[in-house]
Amino acid sequence: MSSAVPLAREAVFAAFRKATNQAPEAAAYAPGRVNLIGEHTDYNEGFVLPAAVDRGVALAARRVPGDTFTLHAVDFGDSCAFPRAPLERNPKHSWADYFKGVAWALLKRGINVPACEAAITGDIPRGAGLSSSAAYEVATVLLFQTLGGFELSSLEVAQLAREAENGFVGVACGIMDQMASAFGEQGKALLLDCRSLARETVAIPPGLRIVVVNSGVRHSLASSEYNKRRAECEEGVRIMASSLPGVTALRDVEPEQMARLAPALPPLVRKRCRHVVSENARVGQAVTAMRSGDTTRLKTLMAASHVSLRDDYEVSCPELDILVDLALPLPYCHGARLTGAGFGGSTVNLVEADAVGTFSETIVSGYRQHSGRAAEIHVFEPSAGARVLPTARTM
Ligand code: GLA
Repeated sequence: MSSAVPLAREAVFAAFRKATNQAPEAAAYAPGRVNLIGEHTDYNEGFVLPAAVDRGVALAARRVPGDTFTLHAVDFGDSCAFPRAPLERNPKHSWADYFKGVAWALLKRGINVPACEAAITGDIPRGAGLSSSAAYEVATVLLFQTLGGFELSSLEVAQLAREAENGFVGVACGIMDQMASAFGEQGKALLLDCRSLARETVAIPPGLRIVVVNSGVRHSLASSEYNKRRAECEEGVRIMASSLPGVTALRDVEPEQMARLAPALPPLVRKRCRHVVSENARVGQAVTAMRSGDTTRLKTLMAASHVSLRDDYEVSCPELDILVDLALPLPYCHGARLTGAGFGGSTVNLVEADAVGTFSETIVSGYRQHSGRAAEIHVFEPSAGARVLPTARTM
């Protein structure tokens, strides 16, 4: 079991010094996130309830003369260099695409990005559904902001990071991950309206810890299946809008309207829409449950979210189902479901603080027995969002 140790400023500074023999003049850190409930609702303009975690990605850099960027991926032991223009993805160093994507998004807005040499390191598990890529993008925006001396609001930081992912990296994600990384707060989850981008914080019920279990499984079809789900939701909106004027996204459809219009939808589209409409309603109910300390209700809602993702949205997999089925009967577990896009990745569990050790042992041995695989356990603290790290130049 790994304990939650936030990536220290010293780690990225040391990494930069090791790679370049110099001290950095700017540095930034951004956290990954775990989503408590509200899955596949963000791109349907609905509600989500993520929390930034105490693990993330950090970058440190120095400006260099000329037009060439040099990047060092400390954790991969790899480096690459590329010109400011044209910025192109490179499958040989695909880890650099996120950095390039941010430079591309800033340049597209007419913001000049200084050429630099940068080191990147992180302590958030990659490919585990914890948004390491959003953390990397958000930290890169902050890094450029410091190097270039321009000002952006946290909202602009999140929007630029998402633009990098959508327009350059080519993943059609919603805005949840970047918003959580930019706006996280210590001890709190973030209720986010993905249409208005209005935010409220929601405290984690006292005595509960967020325990993430990484299934160790990642399906290669995740990205194409994700895009298929988006298209199926859009088809549902087109059909329902003909009898519900004013509906422009699934966010606008109430559960009663969904039930009434269900027969008009093709079976697959019906299931996808039913998940999104019901999940949106569950987010509001979960916030009420959390605020009133009703953990029994919270557990029921998280379990219903998982069933809906498994049966209607079809983004779970046997390994995630095993993890949830192992967690739900445990009396000290007050919620368990898959978190993030699905198709592998992790589950999120709300566990009584003094039972975290027992929970972890039970899950690890049960998972090994039922799947033959090793589960990786992370206990996360909901944490503050992205920040610039002080350097000799910025202090
Ligand atoms: C991924 C995407 C998010 C969101 C989730 C599913 O994490 O990046 O925008 O759609 O999947 O809730």
